[in-house]
Amino acid sequence: MFSSRNLLHNRRYLSKKLTSCSFGSSLRPIAKFDNSVNRDSNCPTLELLEKENHFGIKSHNVVKLPERLKEAVDKILGSCQDGNLIKNSEILNHHLIFKKPPLTQSKLKEIEVSCTERVSATQLFPDTSFMSVDDEKKLSNSLNNKIRRNINQTAYNWKPVVYNESMSMAYLVARLAPDFASLYKIFCEIRSRDPGFQPQNLFDFGSGVGTALWSAKSCWGVTKFKEVFCVDSSVDMNNLALALIQGGVWPNQQGEHRAMEEDSTEGSSTLKGLYFRQFMPASPAVKYDLVVCAHTLLELPSAELRLQMALSLWRKSQGYLVFVEHGSRAAYEVIVEIRDFLLSLSDGSKEANLQGHVFSPCPHEARCPRLADTTPCNFEAKYESLVKKQQVLKERFSYVVLKKGSRSETEPRWPRVVRPVLTRSRHTICRLCTNEGKLEEIVVTRSKHSKENNTIARKTKWGELLPVQLSRPEAQLDHSPDDKENVKLS
Ligand SMILES: C[S@@+](CC[C@H](N)C(=O)[O-])C[C@H]1O[C@@H](n2cnc3c(N)ncnc32)[C@H](O)[C@@H]1O
Repeated sequence: MFSSRNLLHNRRYLSKKLTSCSFGSSLRPIAKFDNSVNRDSNCPTLELLEKENHFGIKSHNVVKLPERLKEAVDKILGSCQDGNLIKNSEILNHHLIFKKPPLTQSKLKEIEVSCTERVSATQLFPDTSFMSVDDEKKLSNSLNNKIRRNINQTAYNWKPVVYNESMSMAYLVARLAPDFASLYKIFCEIRSRDPGFQPQNLFDFGSGVGTALWSAKSCWGVTKFKEVFCVDSSVDMNNLALALIQGGVWPNQQGEHRAMEEDSTEGSSTLKGLYFRQFMPASPAVKYDLVVCAHTLLELPSAELRLQMALSLWRKSQGYLVFVEHGSRAAYEVIVEIRDFLLSLSDGSKEANLQGHVFSPCPHEARCPRLADTTPCNFEAKYESLVKKQQVLKERFSYVVLKKGSRSETEPRWPRVVRPVLTRSRHTICRLCTNEGKLEEIVVTRSKHSKENNTIARKTKWGELLPVQLSRPEAQLDHSPDDKENVKLS
């Protein structure tokens, strides 16, 4: 029989096992809460401290679409005749969530070799010396067919989605609300940490139904965008995006659009300087404060094109560049690929315009520690379902925001909470990604860190920054010379 003491011991052991997976070394770092931020300084986190009434970044519980957008959606859906719209949107959503990038040529070759070996190993080879030429040919064809079938079953068959009229409508139903929620969260962190940044212009690659524009307008409401440049290869998507901006009224011309009217009245949603194009502008000369590429990287047909596009977008940016994808392992790896590529250019290029750093989510420019395990680095946004009104759903997303120039010296480099905070009766467990590029777990208690700091830890949500400085315990420093570096960094 288990005694209550045994049970307690087992629970503690299990909880330790569950919470410490991939998070840090046997010795947890020491966490010192950063209550020392000088409120009179120009520290960009000041606004957070005063406005949000708690450290870290304000979390948006359920992100809602702006009323004007909801009304436009209702109008468009109300006049839609497609009886399969909901079913199509579910199929499309499923496809996009599980979408992977196309295989590289070398990966495809690898799969071909292994399939050939596998099929050949199970095949019985008759003596062909007595066979007619025809029979030998038949045998070889049948073997090749088997290998081809095996390759098709093993290799991921990437296909681009063709966004015609009905697919664009399905996208609107399936993805507008979750995409809006993740972008809104990302933009709001930029607004909170960099209150001086008021984007005047926006460039959106793969703009779809115009979600980035709506999210940016909701976030920086006071800003009047002087120019919004949307690039999407689908004419139907561009038409739908414009219809949403015009309050649910379809444009009467196809192809390129420019809304000419100024957004002067409350009810109007057209913008002066709003452009829709099917192709990237040839010249990189015009630069934008905010450049966005949301849920489009996996639509590009090769890794070379993805990197090329990322570089063009980085050149177009003079402030922030945002990439966001679904929170799957495959999409997260593509985000890391883009992040590392642009950081390598920033490091190794003489072109001053390519210098930059990671603004979020990583508090570092090191290799992502998540690459070493199976869990992707992703975050969560809650949103209201467009179909089942009032139903709250959760969206997982992976993202990176790069900012031109070097990291701010004045902004503290707090670690980011990368999994839900675990609240226990006497302590709080936070799983963090640190400014050294490591996954660490800290335990906050009232006795060690004060009641107020324990409350801060409890209130901090997955995806937010935790206002702590981390350092290594003495014991670890004695044994590992490398860790002396850590102290300096903290
Ligand atoms: C999955 S949707 C994303 C829409 C939008 N960014 C959002 O987050 O809601 C991808 C969009 O990229 C567009 N697209 C795909 N390849 C493109 C390309 N090479 N150039 C421009 N747009 C492209 C598609 O037409 C589609 O509208």
